[in-house]
Amino acid sequence: GNSEAEQEESKGTLIMGTSADYPPFESFTPEGEFEGFDIDLAHLIAEELGYELKIKDMKFDGLVGSLQADRVDMVMAGMSATEERQENVDFSTEYHHSGEMFVTAKDSNIKSIDDLEGKIVGVQLGTIQHEGAEELQKEIDFEIKSMDQGSTLIQELKSGRIDVGYMDKTVAEGYIKEQDLAGFDDPTISSPGMAVAFPKGSELKDEVSAIIDEYLEDGTIDELAEKWELNED
Ligand code: ARG
Repeated sequence: GNSEAEQEESKGTLIMGTSADYPPFESFTPEGEFEGFDIDLAHLIAEELGYELKIKDMKFDGLVGSLQADRVDMVMAGMSATEERQENVDFSTEYHHSGEMFVTAKDSNIKSIDDLEGKIVGVQLGTIQHEGAEELQKEIDFEIKSMDQGSTLIQELKSGRIDVGYMDKTVAEGYIKEQDLAGFDDPTISSPGMAVAFPKGSELKDEVSAIIDEYLEDGTIDELAEKWELNED
């Protein structure tokens, strides 16, 4: 329609990039729909701003590049707001903090980072854990296997092709519970919280931060955290 009211209803489409391989933040339902904490939060934000949300799934490692090339308006992918990334993208207010964890098979004898010696550690390409593993490798001799998809880590672990999967604690805890695995906390890195990423200079950043601030205040974030079983760490 053409009425003014209708025009005001939608300012257009907001394109969000994600890497839907990281429950409970983002994954696919068996029917192929996006779901997760980030997905719910993105829908709320888009609605509040008057945009129609369109979600594009891509490799985690390509998300920052997509923002830089303006192929997406924002990224929500459980992405930690690191200083390094801030050289290339802008971040909103942080909406969740997760530590890091090493996930193993239930009967594994790998119980601390010292036991990683000679083992194969899987990471998702381009994550802070990928970088953290490379750092740790300077002290402990293990092999790193990097993969595009976060979900592949768990498959590789279950089939014994890697000994350990290194990922965000919030995600690790979900897998440990659901897939009967084990794991231990990472004492080596202290990462920043997760935030929405934007192309440098994007006007959306402040608008989205204001909404997240409001949601942190009014309990919306807590409600979503409860729904998706996020533990603050
Ligand atoms: N928090 C980590 C990082 O920012 C891992 C995020 C992986 N996200 C994903 N959707 N696979 O590097």
